[in-house]
Formats: sequence, C-alpha cells, structure tokens
Amino acid sequence: MSTIVLEGRDIVRDYHVPGGLFSKARVVHAVKGVSFTVEKGKTLAIVGESGCGKSTLARIITMIDAATAGDLLIEGQKVDIAKGGLTPELRRKVQIVFQNPYGSLNPRQKIGDVLGEPLLINTNVPADERRERAMQMLVKVGLGPEHFNRYPHMFSGGQRQRIAIARALMLNPSLLVLDEPVSALDLSVQAQVLNLLADLQDEFQLTYVFISHDLSVVRYIADDVMVMYFGEAVEYGPRDEVFSNPKHSYTKTLFAATPRADVESIKARLARKAAKAA
Ligand SMILES: Nc1ncnc2c1ncn2[C@@H]1O[C@H](COP(=O)(O)OP(=O)(O)OP(=O)(O)O)[C@@H](O)[C@H]1O
Ligand SMILES: [Mg+2]
Repeated sequence: MSTIVLEGRDIVRDYHVPGGLFSKARVVHAVKGVSFTVEKGKTLAIVGESGCGKSTLARIITMIDAATAGDLLIEGQKVDIAKGGLTPELRRKVQIVFQNPYGSLNPRQKIGDVLGEPLLINTNVPADERRERAMQMLVKVGLGPEHFNRYPHMFSGGQRQRIAIARALMLNPSLLVLDEPVSALDLSVQAQVLNLLADLQDEFQLTYVFISHDLSVVRYIADDVMVMYFGEAVEYGPRDEVFSNPKHSYTKTLFAATPRADVESIKARLARKAAKAA
C-alpha cells in the first residue's frame, strides 16, 4: 500500500514588492496554483529555469514562508500554510538542505555540535546520547568520528554537504526538501552525494522533493518530475513519461538544449572503483 507523505493543492504565492523612487509597487506571481503528491520513499524532482518558483515552493513546503493560497498536507495532516511557521511535530518531520552548505553551517560551531543542535533544541535527549547519535550519523553519511571536533572550514564542499544532510536527518524526518543540493559541487562529487542520498532514502524510507536545474541529475534521482515555468507546473508525471514524451513547448526546448552529462556512467565508474578498492 502506498502512503502519501506530501500533498500540495493549488498552491499560490504572490509577493507584493513595494514601490520605490523609480519603480511602481507590483506583484510577483512566483507560484501560480501548483498541485502534487509524493508517496513515501519516493522522489519528486522539480526542474525549471532560474526564477520559475522552485525555491519559493520549497520554502512553502518546509513552512519557512507562507503561501498566499492553497493547501498543504504532510502525512495527511493539513498544515496552515497561509500562516507559515511550524508546529514542533512538523519541524521534526520536514527538513531542508540548501545548495550552499557553507552558508548554512555556523563557522564557529564544531561539527559534533552542528549535529547535536537539532536534538538539543527539539528534544530532551541528554548530552551523551546526543553525542552518540551525532557520531552514528557522521558514519552514515560517509564521515567518521575523527571529524567530530572539526570546524566547517576544514571540510571540502562535498563533505560539508554530507554534514548538512546529516544534520537534516538528526530528528528522523520523513520528508527532505533538497534545494539544488549538488549544484555547487564538482561532477564526480555530485555523483557521490547523489549516491549517498539514494542510499539514505532506501535505509530510512525518506521522501524527497529534489530541486534541480540539471536534467541529468533529475533523470538519475527522480521518480516523478515536475517542470515549472513562470510559476506554473507545465509538466508533471512519472519520470520516464515526462522525459520520453514532453508535452509543453518549454520542456521540449529545455530537453533539446541540455547536454546529457552522464550521471549513470559516473555512478558505474564509482562502483567499479569501490569494487576494486574492496
Ligand atoms: N521575498 C521575495 N520578494 C519578492 N519577490 C520574490 C521573493 N522571493 C522570490 N521572489 C520572486 O519570485 C520568483 C521565483 O523565485 P524563486 O527563488 O522561487 O525561483 P527559483 O526557481 O528558485 O530560481 P533559481 O533557480 O534562480 O534558484 C522570482 O521572480 C523572484 O524574484
Ligand atoms: Mg532557487
């Protein structure tokens, strides 16, 4: 039986931009009535050009920002998205990972504390158990206990993104929103982080909303694909259907224009390397 973890119904977000000395006040229609459902353990990829509303939708799903209209249901529970703001229970269930892991990590905080913090803020878990769980999570994301006392600047971009993912998982969320999580990384590091995300999804039955402008990444990670264009979902469906039979002219142009950097082949190469090393 499938369980729907996330459902959005006709989500709208207008931004009222105040006028200035040289400009009139105006309204930006960032998201124009978007609907979707994501089943447990599946990945919905949202793709589209800069400014089409992807991050706005991510902020609404994670309730960092309020919606102008529409409904959001998380595990069947209706969220008051017009208000924004999270109840403590939802705060645990829905986590976000951003593109720039350095920007989202406090440079003065040791990694052990970065990982322990969500538990410190949201739970009564005692210090020694927080430490233990942070250590375990470091190992899960491919780092080790030796990294526990290091600061963010001592890590590579890929490692920092692993830390951001680890932190997002500390409260055992069911839904992870990943806003361009590999876009700032080198291609080979991208493949490693994508593999990690796929492994974690299997292990914890995680549901992903994965935002990207890179179609090869989307092809690799997605179960369903939504293509956004000027705030609208112009394409939405199972990955293979969307890729093999794009309906909207924007999607056709997008697909035709994108070179296929071959994530599958990188993945195969990494697997061969790992098999050799073992
Ligand atoms: N706080 C805000 N106030 C006013 N306008 C905003 C605000 N946030 C976003 N917008 C506008 O809403 C539209 C959608 O922005 P959004 O950041 O969601 O795009 P995006 O698809 O994530 O783009 P990118 O690929 O560059 O990250 C843009 O026109 C943007 O300028
Ligand atoms: Mg964005």
